[in-house]
Amino acid sequence: MRLPALAFAFVTLSATPVLAADGAKTFLLQCKSCHAAKSSLMGPALTGVAGAKIAGRADFAYSAGLKAKAGTWSDANLEAYLAAPTKFAPGSRMPQGVANPADRVAVIGYLKTLK
Ligand code: HEC
Repeated sequence: MRLPALAFAFVTLSATPVLAADGAKTFLLQCKSCHAAKSSLMGPALTGVAGAKIAGRADFAYSAGLKAKAGTWSDANLEAYLAAPTKFAPGSRMPQGVANPADRVAVIGYLKTLK
């Protein structure tokens, strides 16, 4: 089988730069409605959350499910929580995470900039 046209298309495509997943944009679209700069009834503030104690803020009333989790927000825990919040912490009041793995990695990168 000869596929010269396809081969040419492949070379052309691989020359275009790959678009980096944008964590700030994902946060704006999927998180900010509940996570503002200050904790509210909708959700806790996320400043400094990367590396912090899980359910550790004094200014937010966490669910028993999230409070029952020991440890800190390591990359692995953030990944697991954002992949499936109520699987990571049954009873968590956060209804959904980020379905797309690349967007999840990008948004975790963005959380680290919230200081
Ligand atoms: C509908 C509102 C809502 C949306 C949208 C939402 N969250 Fe949440 N989030 C919450 C609530 C409520 C909690 C506290 C959960 C609990 O107590 O079980 C929480 C908790 C968290 C925590 C743990 C905070 C801590 O102090 O331990 C992280 C991290 C987090 N959310 C990240 C995100 C990210 C990233 C997004 C966007 C992809 C997002 N959330 C979208 C409501 C939301």
